[in-house]
Amino acid sequence: WHDFRTLCDYNKRVGVALEVGADLPSAAAIDRWLGEPVKAAILPTSVFLTNKKGFPVLSRLHQRLVCRLLKLEVQVVVWGAPRHGEKPLGSYLQYLEHLGQHRPPPSAYELFARGYEDYLQSPLQPLMDNLESQTYEVFEKDPIKYSQYQQAIYKCLLDRVPEEEKETNVQVVMVLGAGRGPLVNAALRAARQAARRVRVYAVEKNPNAVVTLESWQYEEWGAQVTVVARDMRGWRAPEGADLVVSELLGSFGDNELSPECLDGAQHCLKADGVSIPCSYTSFLAPISSSKLYNEVRGCRERDRDPEAQFEMPYVVRLHNFHQLAPPQPCFSFHHPKPDPAQDNGRFRLLSFRVGVNTVLHGFAGYFETTLYGDITLSIRPETHSPGMFSWFPIFFPIKQPLAVRAGEEVSVAFWRCATPKKVWYEWAVTAPACSALHNPTGRSYTIGL
Ligand SMILES: C[S@@+](CC[C@H](N)C(=O)[O-])C[C@H]1O[C@@H](n2cnc3c(N)ncnc32)[C@H](O)[C@@H]1O
Repeated sequence: WHDFRTLCDYNKRVGVALEVGADLPSAAAIDRWLGEPVKAAILPTSVFLTNKKGFPVLSRLHQRLVCRLLKLEVQVVVWGAPRHGEKPLGSYLQYLEHLGQHRPPPSAYELFARGYEDYLQSPLQPLMDNLESQTYEVFEKDPIKYSQYQQAIYKCLLDRVPEEEKETNVQVVMVLGAGRGPLVNAALRAARQAARRVRVYAVEKNPNAVVTLESWQYEEWGAQVTVVARDMRGWRAPEGADLVVSELLGSFGDNELSPECLDGAQHCLKADGVSIPCSYTSFLAPISSSKLYNEVRGCRERDRDPEAQFEMPYVVRLHNFHQLAPPQPCFSFHHPKPDPAQDNGRFRLLSFRVGVNTVLHGFAGYFETTLYGDITLSIRPETHSPGMFSWFPIFFPIKQPLAVRAGEEVSVAFWRCATPKKVWYEWAVTAPACSALHNPTGRSYTIGL
């Protein structure tokens, strides 16, 4: 199949029809096929069992496979001589319809993500660009993110202020990158919940969002909150913060330049002050997805290098893909910075053992963050915060699909490069064969500071 579709130059009109036999292949082999552009599933009548009433049914394993194929919206073809009743194939179709209707209901995340499957988006750059009101509105609908922040701030306030000081000790909370104010509200709710006193600064550089913050301040918050229309990196705070709260995280953790922004604001923090989040780590996993490979290929633009589209990451709800090995940690950042001399450049070489014959098309990126204590947020599949939909994964493509044999290791080198003006990633596969170095010197993609 891989040779054939390569000869067809990954033509989008060439898809797979999988014939499903009575003996299913291994789970790994099935997973592997689900990363291919499967357009149809052929079910011979001979794979159906007969239930007590004489109707055709599928084994549990076959049912599970058909449900996974239906998620990819494949066409199901029933084929062969009818073996159940006289009606030609009607009872098979009835059963398949029943299966389709009785699939487990979609999760809140799946409902939110509907229509975005495998749709490539350019990562936001909230530092260089000013976000639009609608973008904030979408963030603010997340049912999990803000309650986790509230819980983190609540625990932190309880740890910092003993019961006997609760009337006298006023904690200074700075919300850095306040947007339209949801984290300010989370801080105020946390203070009420903890019965502790706070004075809040809402720092935001986007003038459009500041308008909303000022109206909240005037109508709801009053003197307890001061709105500061500044870039956090240049602001001289009138007092030290006990607590800085921010959410400057992208799908790959540090890709919206949280490290640089928070370093630039670290002087606002008291010597024993706390940052929420206190750390974050990106994760990478090799993936096979001819669908995504083709989508990236289609992003070619005139007036730039014909392969530039392979030298930039995309935010995407991964759907028609196969992850070749579990994600591994890539870059970590801690706040306040333990060693002020350490810069934010990073290098990491990761190796993944792959269990099936397959084709590598790129790397899925995720992140995990510890807000405070045991309060975390995660988009890594193994630890994904249930119901949280603020972030889709990120995808780093490679220019040339790379065949990988079962048992081989895929190794990839990743760099985070930073200058005073911009940050970018470079990446290269080094095993089982070397790829070109992608995005050297940030020639195709950088994130502006
Ligand atoms: C991802 S949004 C989060 C907004 C809001 N806190 C929330 O959780 O919905 C990040 C916000 O930080 C702001 N921001 C980014 N870098 C900043 C900087 N250096 N100084 C001040 N604000 C910044 C952006 O304008 C944006 O409003």
